[in-house]
Amino acid sequence: MSLKPVNVGLLGLGTVGGGTFNVLSRNAEEITRRAGRGIRISHAAARDYDPARLPGIENIQVSDDAFQVVDNPEVDIVVELIGGYSPAKELVLKAIENGKHVVTANKALIALHGNEIFAAAQKKGVMVAFEAAVAGGIPIIKAIREGLAANQIEWLCGIINGTGNFILTEMRDKGRDFDDVLKEAQALGYAEADPTFDVEGIDAAHKLTILASLAFGIPLQFKKTYTEGITNITREDVAYAEELGYRIKHLGFSRRTPAGVELRVHPTLIPERRLIANVDGVMNAVLVKGDAVGPTLYYGAGAGAEPTASAVVADIIDVVRTLTADPENRVPHLAFQPGALADLPILPMEEVETAYYLRMLAVDRPGVLADVTRILGDSGISIEAIIQKEPAEDATDVPVIMLTRRVREQQMNQAIARIEALDALHGPVTRIRVEHLDAQ
Ligand code: HSE
Repeated sequence: MSLKPVNVGLLGLGTVGGGTFNVLSRNAEEITRRAGRGIRISHAAARDYDPARLPGIENIQVSDDAFQVVDNPEVDIVVELIGGYSPAKELVLKAIENGKHVVTANKALIALHGNEIFAAAQKKGVMVAFEAAVAGGIPIIKAIREGLAANQIEWLCGIINGTGNFILTEMRDKGRDFDDVLKEAQALGYAEADPTFDVEGIDAAHKLTILASLAFGIPLQFKKTYTEGITNITREDVAYAEELGYRIKHLGFSRRTPAGVELRVHPTLIPERRLIANVDGVMNAVLVKGDAVGPTLYYGAGAGAEPTASAVVADIIDVVRTLTADPENRVPHLAFQPGALADLPILPMEEVETAYYLRMLAVDRPGVLADVTRILGDSGISIEAIIQKEPAEDATDVPVIMLTRRVREQQMNQAIARIEALDALHGPVTRIRVEHLDAQ
């Protein structure tokens, strides 16, 4: 091993930055055997860090100015673990301009600005690796981009936000309240700096945007991703879903259809017998259906210091191994050659077809259910299951829960508007989409 070690400039020494520092130090010998040369963190930048968590950090120059690291001629690879849009974007673009390779865990940056960043990297002949941006430690980007490269990918879906999954799991298992569980996830270091990114589905939408681009060879289009959070999911819905044989998961879903690509994040009922329905707590899972391979499932820790560092360090090793490769012959950033990306339309949500779970509160008198089912029938919506519950003590309204067969969202919206207009219906109709995730 005569090649000189590769110098890494690490931006950020927080949860993931600290984990990356520790994994690279602890496994240095084995990493050298894998990469073919040493990899050392030569420089780092952080405003605030805890040296007690980072044994050996005293041997490294830590600046509070990340641009100093990016501009340092000794640094070969810049590892951006600051997160957020700015100054992360400026730092990454500057690193590329300086001819440095980049590794990042920044899903927001890639989902929103990836097209621009990859074009700049392409021009400069440098790599931008981002395995840690999606599903933490699960090597899902490598799996889709390389392992499944023979396939036409038909659809994929994932539980790709650990915080949201932790909240839904605790609500189901322990009947805990939403806010209480969110506080715990924040204390455990899983939640985003702005926790609305987790519970409103924005974090999952960032990750889904990236997965869909890799799967279908389309540019990154975060703004066209339909995003609905879990803040309106009640314990009742979790319990009724269970009674019907389903689990409620916050799912990112993308499917190629003849009319365009579906790109959507929303709470979803999935049959409890599916493996992915049993992914609990902070764990993530991604299910990918390829035409040749069939359904494949990838499971692991989606957040946390060392699981995310596992993906960051694997990217660094990958970059080191291909440092001397001809830039034209490297694995393309978005899995397909940059000039071969497809201009497929993203389907508006009204045109998406799913099955539905509906819950409504109806006055307990003859003919009310008949009115509801007539409206559904008139709209061409077929009912798969229906449950009417006993009224609560002293109440005159009864909860009615239905599962429908697949229907276009626009038709369902129209039917719900007509149902909500009935005198005998009180309050809005709760609607949660249902996916069966069979080999459809
Ligand atoms: N907030 C994210 C999550 C962290 O909960 O999954 C990993 O991206």
